[in-house]
Amino acid sequence: MCGIVGFTGEQSAAPILLDGLKKLEYRGYDSAGIAVMDHGCISVNKVTGRIANLCEKTKDGTAVPGAAGIGHTRWATHGAPTEENAHPHLSNDGRFAIVHNGIIENYLSLREELIKDGYHFDSETDTEVIVHLIEMYYKGDMRDALIRTTNRLRGSYALGVICSEEPGKLYAVREASPLILGVGVDENYFASDVTALVNYTRNVIYLEDGEFAELSGNSVKVFDCLGKPVEKKVSRILWDVQAAEKGGYEHFMLKEIMEQPGAVKATISPRIKDGKIVFEELKLTAKDLLRIRKIVITACGSAYYAGCAAKYALEKISHIPVEVELASELRYSDPMIDNHTLLIVISQSGETADTIAALKEAKARGARTLAIVNVVGSTVAKLADNVVYTWAGPEIAVATTKGYTTQVAVLCMLSVWFADMMGIEDENYPKYVKELQALPRMIQHAIDMNSSIPALAKKYHDSKSLFFIGRNTDYAVSLEGALKMKEISYLHSEAYAAGELKHGTIALIEEHTPVIALCCNPAIMEKTLSNIVEVKSRGAEVLALTFRNNQKIVSVADDLMFIPKVDPLFSAVVEIVPLQLLAYYVAKENGCDIDKPKNLAKSVTVE
Ligand code: BG6
Repeated sequence: MCGIVGFTGEQSAAPILLDGLKKLEYRGYDSAGIAVMDHGCISVNKVTGRIANLCEKTKDGTAVPGAAGIGHTRWATHGAPTEENAHPHLSNDGRFAIVHNGIIENYLSLREELIKDGYHFDSETDTEVIVHLIEMYYKGDMRDALIRTTNRLRGSYALGVICSEEPGKLYAVREASPLILGVGVDENYFASDVTALVNYTRNVIYLEDGEFAELSGNSVKVFDCLGKPVEKKVSRILWDVQAAEKGGYEHFMLKEIMEQPGAVKATISPRIKDGKIVFEELKLTAKDLLRIRKIVITACGSAYYAGCAAKYALEKISHIPVEVELASELRYSDPMIDNHTLLIVISQSGETADTIAALKEAKARGARTLAIVNVVGSTVAKLADNVVYTWAGPEIAVATTKGYTTQVAVLCMLSVWFADMMGIEDENYPKYVKELQALPRMIQHAIDMNSSIPALAKKYHDSKSLFFIGRNTDYAVSLEGALKMKEISYLHSEAYAAGELKHGTIALIEEHTPVIALCCNPAIMEKTLSNIVEVKSRGAEVLALTFRNNQKIVSVADDLMFIPKVDPLFSAVVEIVPLQLLAYYVAKENGCDIDKPKNLAKSVTVE
């Protein structure tokens, strides 16, 4: 997720662009840049790091003349966070500059075609193909050039474009990434969201997918993908800037829970082509995989629990034994790792000290390594032989949500990809691909099916202890569910393999002790049902998570949360969502500092 902004009017554009980018910095902050038109030329200033560096370089914009321009703050997806990869990107002839938020899924083939046509690339980004296409198609009419260009693109894009032959004009295009126009007095704007606009105007136009806009100081024109003018309503923004940063949600955590359908879609869909799972970024060959005797997954915190959840799918589908090890343990355990081991290291930040140390230890013992990371160019990403990025966008809340679900989604896809690469014939392959493609929609259903969770939170928010139980994948998800509850609501919570409760912990169950029972795997439902009856007979209150039509569980549970039917091998991506919401609303009920829980850090970069 990146932030884009544009301004055209009579004032100096650069200071306004910088101010807008500061408001968008929560959307991405590894590099930034502005491009401003002045006397028929486009000047570009770009930096790595925060907007403050760009302000310093441009003397808060005062060193950059011109009254129309575009700006960008980046969250890297393709290409490390370097100055060359920062936006805006220029065409070879210098007449066009572009900023982009989104992912161009077919950029590799477009890049090859453009290089063959004589265009040279300055960056590794997917975005740069767009500005060269515009140069190629421009014959004096920007609308026509933009329509031809976007007809070639597959993926998501919110674009801002300027052309030195059209002074004072901005062009904006929206497809599956947010883009809003700001309507001022003798000046107009565009931005990724209202935070960048609300200090200048509260009159906005929301572009729809497939719409284009042409802005000048005194006009705003919108047209559709065929170039036909579109009448648009001007809306009034009532939010303040702070609320707008969180998209109107009270906390970043809730915003990021709600972003999960989009985050999982952004992570999955570019890797499914013509019904096949593809990992173009992986250098692992069939030969490499066939000599792997075991997979070791290592990580910390929720990333470790993501590995626990995916172990079942990895083993069942790729037939490779999987061990999941805490990084802080593995690094000192003299691990049995060698050149027949594939180490999968998972880290949202890519900077967790224990995880980095475990990765180095495994490499020293000859393991092939594959990192699943959310931050492009992070230390884990640089150290591993192979990297698969989760395209979740920046995760601001300390307690991860979309980081976890996108990690599990990648691991589930890898399970299917490994099997396919090793030539394992599996009649379920098409079914697995269909299930994976449906995950974003299933997550949305899981959100929509659980409007009763705030009320459940009121009932359970002052519990002394909560026990999460489940079997198989349900058990793995209960580990993450219990951690979420502890992390943000500070209630003591423990996760147990449902069958294990009777071997000791059941001694702690007393009248009204809450037990959250995960029952999302039909094959072992009966077993968990008997565990529910066991704890109920000792006075527990059971809050079950299951399918809506699961009468056996529904009839014995005291309270219920639901998920839609999902293949148990991949269900962790969906099951965790009601548990995230439960933890969130309990913490809210308890007045906790949800986005910054006490004693915790977003990434623990020390031992
Ligand atoms: C903790 C975070 O500090 O580190 C967790 O609060 C996270 O959310 C864990 O799961 C591991 O962090 P990372 O960045 O390596 O996934």
